[in-house]
Amino acid sequence: MWKGRFDTETSGLLQRFSESVSFDWRLYPYDIQGSLAHAEALLAAGILPAEEHAEIGRGLREIQQEIEAGTFEFREDLEDIHMNIESALTQKIGAAGARLHTARSRNDQVALDVRLFCRHEVTVIMELVKELQWALVECAKRHEGAVIPGYTHLQRGQPVLFAHHLLAYVEMLERDRGRLGDGRERINVMPLGSGALAGSTIVLDRELVARLLEFPRVTRNSMDAVSDRDFIAETLFTLALVGTHLSRLSEDIVLWVSAEFGFVELSDAHTTGSSLMPQKKNPDIAELTRGKTGRLYGNLMSLLTTLKGLPMTYNRDLQEDKEPLFDSIDTIKMCLRINAEMIGAMKVREDRTRAATGDPFLLATDLADHLVLQGVPFRQAHEVIGRLTAHSLKTGVSFQDIPLETYREFSPAFGDSVHDLLDVDTALRARGGIGAPSPDNVRAEIERWDETLRPALTP
Ligand code: ARG
Repeated sequence: MWKGRFDTETSGLLQRFSESVSFDWRLYPYDIQGSLAHAEALLAAGILPAEEHAEIGRGLREIQQEIEAGTFEFREDLEDIHMNIESALTQKIGAAGARLHTARSRNDQVALDVRLFCRHEVTVIMELVKELQWALVECAKRHEGAVIPGYTHLQRGQPVLFAHHLLAYVEMLERDRGRLGDGRERINVMPLGSGALAGSTIVLDRELVARLLEFPRVTRNSMDAVSDRDFIAETLFTLALVGTHLSRLSEDIVLWVSAEFGFVELSDAHTTGSSLMPQKKNPDIAELTRGKTGRLYGNLMSLLTTLKGLPMTYNRDLQEDKEPLFDSIDTIKMCLRINAEMIGAMKVREDRTRAATGDPFLLATDLADHLVLQGVPFRQAHEVIGRLTAHSLKTGVSFQDIPLETYREFSPAFGDSVHDLLDVDTALRARGGIGAPSPDNVRAEIERWDETLRPALTP
């Protein structure tokens, strides 16, 4: 493509070192879409006669079909997808193909292709996030009455509904969906026309190109436009955070399926056995999701590191943006799909979760609250219940079996009804504040999510 200035062929090693077509070939539909719009602008500017414009359209569509049919021959010596397509086009239609790159550089071309690619993929991922949210809400519905200990420091804290625990993940994923949508606003800006870095002396109608490609805005600074990869960094960050959330869910699931917890059962379809230990049923999906989160973080770091030392404007380093982007997108799509399927078939062992909430210490805070309602300052109440806990541990007598007189030796403020408080369902019903896990609240939240998530799912 640049043979004019060179005497010697490029080294074979350089070709292999610098090619990107082995991975950027997947930008082909966007490259073609962008070239079709660019050809419209060249036609409108009188650079391309109508016949040549039509030939370009025909040629590009043929190339797209060949790529889709698997008959297109990608050439490493043509470096990237952009030059592969341009060269094939010129071979097909001659002079007209050679006019297509007028007032365009691969620098603004690649920026356009990646923006089109990201816009599409982010939209798909937003839908997949929603499908996982839906699977969580459905599981919450199936087990609406299941109680479970809530943990801090992985120590039993207070009772909650299992559904409340799952809906916490629905909240996280909702923020992720919001972030993806926000980021899409900044992806959705049209860079073509920025040229190599300084626009072009041949002035095309950029607004026309933007309209054809459904971009609401065009970039306003050609130097920024060819070197800006913020939108990729943002996308990688958001996907890394989706990964964080999936990884936390995975860790919960790994714990829940262990014999020690035994809170949930995964379908045989979503677990694996051991080649050695016949009894094993391993939560590999959860473990792999947790593991793959590492590469999502790595991809973000990789791009940020690539960007940090670059002088203006385009530098070849920027070609290193694509593999991390593609990898994060492929990884998160797979993780979202498979987790939605797994959660869709997950069952809660409600007898086991209820047995775990039989731990009387889960209601220690409720006893302290009882004293507060009798007028005892909370700090004192906290200390009284702390001493009662020590007493219970020392004597082996549970809160339920400690007689009222003994309670009153610890504090005369204990009311007659203290034993009635020591019931998980009573304790849950009492937690009626906004955002707390009373059964009424959780049912209302399930309904709210049902309304938020359902409509877009029905085709
Ligand atoms: N393959 C290049 C990339 O992905 C395309 C742009 C090349 N531009 C250049 N001036 N060499 O970034």
